[in-house]
Amino acid sequence: MTLSELSPKQKTVLKWAFTPSMRDKYKAIICDGAVRSGKTVCMLTAFILWAMRNFNGQNFGICGKTVASAERNIVRPAQEQADLQAYFSLAYRRADHVLMVRGLGRENRFYIFGGKDESSYALIQGITLAGVLFDEVALMPRSFVDQAIARTLSEPQAKLWFNCNPEGPGHWFYKEWVCQPEAHKALHLHFRMEDNPILTPEQIADAESMYTGVFRDRYILGLWVAAEGRIYDMFSTANNVVDALPDLAGESYVSCDYGTQNPTVFLLWRRVRGCERWVCVREYYYSGRDKRRQKTDSEFADDLKRWLGEDKPRAIVVDPSAASFIAELRQRGYAVQKADNDVLDGIRDTAQRIQTGELLFHRDCTHTLEEFRAYVWDEKASQQGLDKPVKASDHCMDAMRYFCVTILGRQIVSVKRRPRGL
Ligand SMILES: Nc1ncnc2c1ncn2[C@@H]1O[C@H](COP(=O)(O)OP(=O)(O)O)[C@@H](O)[C@H]1O
Ligand SMILES: [Mg+2]
Repeated sequence: MTLSELSPKQKTVLKWAFTPSMRDKYKAIICDGAVRSGKTVCMLTAFILWAMRNFNGQNFGICGKTVASAERNIVRPAQEQADLQAYFSLAYRRADHVLMVRGLGRENRFYIFGGKDESSYALIQGITLAGVLFDEVALMPRSFVDQAIARTLSEPQAKLWFNCNPEGPGHWFYKEWVCQPEAHKALHLHFRMEDNPILTPEQIADAESMYTGVFRDRYILGLWVAAEGRIYDMFSTANNVVDALPDLAGESYVSCDYGTQNPTVFLLWRRVRGCERWVCVREYYYSGRDKRRQKTDSEFADDLKRWLGEDKPRAIVVDPSAASFIAELRQRGYAVQKADNDVLDGIRDTAQRIQTGELLFHRDCTHTLEEFRAYVWDEKASQQGLDKPVKASDHCMDAMRYFCVTILGRQIVSVKRRPRGL
């Protein structure tokens, strides 16, 4: 792709590090705001151009939440960027996570780090960097970001490049950087979807329709607001509950939240024939505390078998901490997948799928429907800027999230919405 047209805000990102008056005034740039507002693409282009024009034989850092996400969001798009290819060759060495950029008689190394990857944390401690790009910096631990910044201190010309979508107002990056850019000699630019020149008004409206509540405030309006009230406030009977099962395809999965004191839940998911929608057709719910009797792994596995009847799920997705139950199920021949348990990312993805009507629930799944009403953000944590669900009425909610993230995957739901209607 090429950046044939840039919005004024994107032009500023391309210019700041080259224009003498701005270059001397600012040490860092912060682009925060809406999703798909064109932050990453202009920043990665500007970062590489700046590095190649001003340095030779140096090391730079490109940081994502994980190495994999940095490869997906930065390395690959950079390699496909015609404006960069016109001058440079970009060769990525997957083995040691280095992007070598050569051209105009220069060569620089861009090391890829993942803020959440422990291996990256150890590696970044030993390196000197002439500049660092942090993509989605609000998803990285502060200790990692501080460490990366410390690696640039010996290079007087080094610059820091941050971009992110908003989180809660108590988030460390918001308080430390976004609220006081002058303290760091940082240029702060706030992006809205209108700052992405390739998005049409219809695409913006489409994207807006995929988020509600706090997610809309943050990802569409680009505001740093607290998560309050019901977590899945986009859930509605009209949009997400079915009285009768639609025509179903053969594929099915079970997702499980496991507890001994706390309830154990199984949800059975089946795909709707002919479209990418899934119905939670049945639930199993057992609370050892309410029934005053705890069940063993083997009893739960017997219950699962009875409850499944003729259904043959492709996999049982289980709470990763339920090691002994996972072993029991594997021994009985079930294909078990340990669930991805990144709570906040999972909630965000699940919320989108509820909002678009991709997830449906049969009305007999009463515990699940009840939990939708009761599952709320922790107010105290919220005041400290943390997004945390209250750990109660979360068993069906966790099982649902495990299914979404582990089976349906992490792909961003496309801007173009699927047609409605079953
Ligand atoms: N000036 C532009 N020219 C062409 N494509 C663009 C431009 N700005 C943004 N895009 C495209 O729009 C999409 C979203 O941009 P991205 O930088 O990933 O947004 P953000 O990081 O804000 O979520 C990407 O596919 C990107 O390539
Ligand atoms: Mg981005």
